[in-house]
Amino acid sequence: MANLMGKKVIVVGGSSGIGLGVAAATLERGADLMIVGRSADKLERARRALGVDGRVETFAADMTQEANIAALFERIGVFDHLVSTAGTPPPGDPIDQTDIDNVRRFIDNKLVGAVLVAKYAARTLSRGGSMTFTSGINKDRPPVPGGAVVSAIAGSFTYLARAPRLNLRRHV
Ligand SMILES: NC(=O)c1ccc[n+]([C@@H]2O[C@H](COP(=O)([O-])OP(=O)(O)OC[C@H]3O[C@@H](n4cnc5c(N)ncnc54)[C@H](OP(=O)(O)O)[C@@H]3O)[C@@H](O)[C@H]2O)c1
Repeated sequence: MANLMGKKVIVVGGSSGIGLGVAAATLERGADLMIVGRSADKLERARRALGVDGRVETFAADMTQEANIAALFERIGVFDHLVSTAGTPPPGDPIDQTDIDNVRRFIDNKLVGAVLVAKYAARTLSRGGSMTFTSGINKDRPPVPGGAVVSAIAGSFTYLARAPRLNLRRHV
């Protein structure tokens, strides 16, 4: 990973799991960090666990809620890099047992949430900055029973990432 000294980095999902690991790695390389998740308590615990005073801000936001995401980017302004690992465990039912409400919740949280984050992030991303959205490797593996929905959503991230760069506005 490059030297991130003086760079402003946002990690959506930075209060646990993969995102917390990304947060720790960016701090090691000198970034000023904003970690985002729904639970303010989890964010505070993560901030303490990261153990670097003064370079970690937290922002409680639900990425499925447009007003929350608009407020996040209003607060952060121009930034350099965004990583979103946020998500909830995927449905894993065999296709003939699919719980559609569960599927809709997963799509709203993982895919629609990422679209909302990209919508507002694109407005204040600095020149030379980046946006990274993680999905999962299921789409590249041989199909597994119960893997239809998670593979479909993971695959859709590839296409989500391709088009927005054509109309990014650049700042600074
Ligand atoms: N761990 C793996 O091996 C693996 C492999 C492939 C794919 N994945 C997928 O990657 C995603 C993250 O995995 P993980 O292991 O890092 O999970 P995790 O430890 O549960 O972390 C999820 C993070 O996302 C945040 N989050 C969830 N929904 C959110 C929302 N609507 N708005 C804002 N923040 C939200 C959580 O905070 P709050 O709960 O406070 O919102 C938390 O910070 C999941 O979708 C998972 O299915 C994981």
